Amino acid sequence: MKQVLKDLITAACQERLRSYSPYSKFRVGAALLGKSGTVYLGTNVENASFSLAFCAERSAVVRAVSDGEQEFEAIAICADGIEPTAPCGACRQVLLEFGPEMQVILAGEDGLTGEIRELTVDELLPHAFFDFGDQLRQNQTGKDTP
Ligand code: THU
Repeated sequence: MKQVLKDLITAACQERLRSYSPYSKFRVGAALLGKSGTVYLGTNVENASFSLAFCAERSAVVRAVSDGEQEFEAIAICADGIEPTAPCGACRQVLLEFGPEMQVILAGEDGLTGEIRELTVDELLPHAFFDFGDQLRQNQTGKDTP
């Protein structure tokens, strides 16, 4: 594995320690590598109103886009537990928006010394809802409508 991706895993594992997760006690860190080379960090932030929790992956995406970057090479995700944890469905959909070919690297709490899984967003979310522009255009031209 390239050194830049190893560093991304280490950054995600460190970010996990900043998690605000008093309810689930499940800490997740994400490190998102922009095409510019900048790394954007995100962790999960929970709330007494449970459904308001922010996932680590989406926190990193929001941070990156807010800072002006929208194209990404890879994201490393590091969660509590020995086994790597895969991103939730909502995070998969949000990652897809910014890079179907983005590499997704999953690590457990042992980071680089534990098991690592490497996937793409496409592999994590096949047959996804993506661009509804074609449907809108068809509706406007009246094509393919019953
Ligand atoms: N969580 C993430 O940060 N990312 C995911 O992809 C799955 C779940 C967080 C949300 C919540 O704070 C905790 O893990 C338990 O669901």
